[in-house]
Amino acid sequence: MNKKTYEYLFYKVRGASKEEIMKQAKLSEAEYESLENSQADTIKEIQKDRDRAVEIGPDFVKLTRYIYAHISPQQEGVPRPNAIKDIPGESIALPAIETLEMPKISLHDAISNRRSTRQYSEEELTMEELSFLLWAGFWVKELKSNERVEFTLRNVPSAGARHPLECYLMINRVRGIKEGLYHYHPLKHELVKLERGEDIAQQVHAAALGQEMVAKSAVTFIVSAIPQRTAWRYVQRAYRYLYLDAGHVGQNISLACEAIGAGACMIGAYQDEDMNEVIGVDGREEFVIYAFSVGKKA
Ligand SMILES: Cc1cc2nc3c(=O)[nH]c(=O)nc-3n(C[C@H](O)[C@H](O)[C@H](O)COP(=O)(O)O)c2cc1C
Repeated sequence: MNKKTYEYLFYKVRGASKEEIMKQAKLSEAEYESLENSQADTIKEIQKDRDRAVEIGPDFVKLTRYIYAHISPQQEGVPRPNAIKDIPGESIALPAIETLEMPKISLHDAISNRRSTRQYSEEELTMEELSFLLWAGFWVKELKSNERVEFTLRNVPSAGARHPLECYLMINRVRGIKEGLYHYHPLKHELVKLERGEDIAQQVHAAALGQEMVAKSAVTFIVSAIPQRTAWRYVQRAYRYLYLDAGHVGQNISLACEAIGAGACMIGAYQDEDMNEVIGVDGREEFVIYAFSVGKKA
């Protein structure tokens, strides 16, 4: 969604005056009138949902209790979802896991030194270091696949081993890898380049609400969730697990950063519509759930 339309909707549903909306969204009178026509239905829908949103937190916790659960797609015999998302495209092999030699650090030091790191040096990450971070957070150690069920085992836990998370990388400074947006294939341990325009780094920065550490990062991880992978087994309760799973990945990446002289900052503040658009997902079947900016410590 373009910025003007977003700002128009944002202020309109809050009951702002025409003058205020034109000022905030930087609209001409003609643009304002045109949005009044084209966005009338969207406004109604948002207004209705905004009223529901007041109670969504407690309702979510309540309605995902087992007492409310319906029979799962798995129990109904719905075909199993794939455990891996394959995006075709030009791929880059990462240094193989068994070849990685990372400095040893005690678990005690990794845990006690971890702090959110928002300032980074100009130093690049090496491909080995990136490979190591991906190993910690997303890499597939084992794929179990048959006609009925498919799941993976990784270095992080996941409810029912459903592993619903996907990893996209905004690479700014990794030696040997061209800047740009990539999708990580956790089984092949490869990156697939996504063509999203020359200004992709600015798009990611803007979608992260202009947070400076994203622009300065060596790499920003953009983590999405495919709810159906988990909901196939756990129905609505799956949505609780998506966020819990993402937390484990974030912590593993944070601790792994300590081992390579890097730091991470977890990011929950981003414009959902824009971040989903950046990685090319619809916000429902797949949506951005978390992001982490990473770079060598200053
Ligand atoms: C779920 C979550 C979302 C966060 N989102 C942001 C964010 O968008 N921007 C930011 O600067 N820090 C963000 N943080 C980092 C917190 O501000 C930080 O963890 C907190 O202030 C404690 O500091 P520490 O991590 O150095 O111990 C987030 C942390 C978590 C766990």
